[in-house]
Amino acid sequence: MTKKAIIKKKLSKITISQEISGKEGSFGVYVQISSKLGIKIVGGTSVEKHFKEYLKEAIHEARNLREARKRVSFVPRCYGVQSFKIDGKSRIGILMQHLGKKRLENMNINNDYDVRHCLKNRLLKVNILHDDLHNANVMFYKGRYYVIDFGQVTIIKSQ
Ligand SMILES: Nc1ncnc2c1ncn2[C@@H]1O[C@H](COP(=O)(O)OP(=O)(O)OP(=O)(O)O)[C@@H](O)[C@H]1O
Ligand SMILES: [Mg+2]
Repeated sequence: MTKKAIIKKKLSKITISQEISGKEGSFGVYVQISSKLGIKIVGGTSVEKHFKEYLKEAIHEARNLREARKRVSFVPRCYGVQSFKIDGKSRIGILMQHLGKKRLENMNINNDYDVRHCLKNRLLKVNILHDDLHNANVMFYKGRYYVIDFGQVTIIKSQ
């Protein structure tokens, strides 16, 4: 089976209850689909009505992730945008590297401001402006911090 077919099979197994219990953000719900792979489902149940807009936003975020990952290593790898169905209803998701469950938010450390500040500056150095760098948008995975949530990011093209 090809990688694509394996992913399609995994996506076809995502259930509504998995989606509901996924990690919720304001734009998407994140569901882990294997030890190394997760999907940020955008739009949820309202995606059918506004399919084109959500698809556009998902493609935009996936592009941002890929461009950012070319410039820094502390961003999840992105494997593209995929539409699929849950209980016969359409969904759109951004496939990406799974970075575990630890967010800066639940780490109970007192230098979280410094961590965010440092990550923000490292992104700025490569012309990436992340305007929404709060503690739920920083993951701690295998001893390193990672920045997620690239929907609202501004990336200045390198010449
Ligand atoms: N690659 C990943 N690996 C592990 N968990 C992730 C990953 N991406 C997202 N998550 C989880 O899903 C949550 C929501 O993801 P994200 O911040 O991208 O969505 P959002 O809806 O845009 O959030 P926001 O409320 O910041 O706009 C994160 O806080 C995190 O817990
Ligand atoms: Mg977020």
